[in-house]
Amino acid sequence: MKIRKIKEKISWLGSVDWDSRLFDSLIPLPDGTSYNAYLIEGSEKTVLIDTVDPPMAKEFMAQLEGIPKIDYIVSSHAEQDHSGTIMQVLKKYPGAKLISTPKARGLLIDLLSIPENFFITVEDGETLSLGDKTLKFIYTPWVHWPETMVTYLEEDKILFSCDFFGSHIASSDLFVTDQGRVYEAAKRYFAEIMMPFRSTIKKNMKKLASFDIEMIAPGHGQIFPEPAFIMDAYNKWVEGAPKNTVVLPYVSMHKSSELMVKHLVAALVEKGVRVEQFNLAVTDIGKLAMALVDAATIVVGTPTILAGPHPYAAYAAFLANALRPNTKFLSVVGSYGWGGKTVDVLAGMIPNLKVEVIDPVLCKGVPTQDVLRQLDDLAATIAQKHREQGYT
Ligand code: FEO
Repeated sequence: MKIRKIKEKISWLGSVDWDSRLFDSLIPLPDGTSYNAYLIEGSEKTVLIDTVDPPMAKEFMAQLEGIPKIDYIVSSHAEQDHSGTIMQVLKKYPGAKLISTPKARGLLIDLLSIPENFFITVEDGETLSLGDKTLKFIYTPWVHWPETMVTYLEEDKILFSCDFFGSHIASSDLFVTDQGRVYEAAKRYFAEIMMPFRSTIKKNMKKLASFDIEMIAPGHGQIFPEPAFIMDAYNKWVEGAPKNTVVLPYVSMHKSSELMVKHLVAALVEKGVRVEQFNLAVTDIGKLAMALVDAATIVVGTPTILAGPHPYAAYAAFLANALRPNTKFLSVVGSYGWGGKTVDVLAGMIPNLKVEVIDPVLCKGVPTQDVLRQLDDLAATIAQKHREQGYT
């Protein structure tokens, strides 16, 4: 991809990654992603905001071939998918200074061995004149990592947000053209990257509310020419108001736990509760993470294996604990052969979740009619609790 003009003297550079299917060796990328950097040419100074993931460096450096000078590189976030090509840029423009928060400076030195003499650290709210354009640096901690900041271009009212408001989408469209598609990808991204820091992200949203933003240019995905769309979505997600939804990750070995899950799902649906069911043997964990954003209740379905939950169920519990959704209730269903401590093990894995545990339904072998009645009761209890809380 060649350098692309956003507005007069403001350009996109970067790489559209159509092929990657896993990020950080963890996060599924069903739609690929992009690594976005931005060039702002002021009347006196030229600034590059962020760079690209090192495997994309060749394409990126080729985009810079026609750019005679860069005075500053802004590093919004020290993670390598944005910072990993900074050293190559500094080698090409040895007079450039690297602007970051003090925390990012430390991380960039640790991760990329960038020499200290290149750095200028900025305070929250500090401005930098480029001549006819002015940058304002706004600390937005925990937009993935603790050191993060965003940059506001005052004259053009553009927010360069790096991971904030990002989405993993590979597209030849520079700007958002399909809000439905972007909403889904951005929610998945929020769940995977931002949800654990929901309260800090909420503070960051409040901070940004005082800025007149006409465009958001993120570090991944497409540019938002109508920022209200994504800001409204974020304001909802950070509130984390649970919906009348049960998220049901499950795994089954010999179909007994699956029978229980299917019966429970049917009973919940009959009682007006929405269900998101995930077979952990085949599921996309990004979809599971996304469902957790709105889940009032999690029910884990698992057989007992070697005296505890199936490892896939343990993985789901670990993930939910790490992502810290605002879930209120939790239960467990599943089948066992001769005994074990499945519920105790799972309950011990979720200290971050402030949930009320609803009595689990476990059964020996194939579920009997009595077990199915217990599952009906569990569905009724969940529906009742959701009603009492006013979840819709
Ligand atoms: Fe896109 Fe946290 O890096």
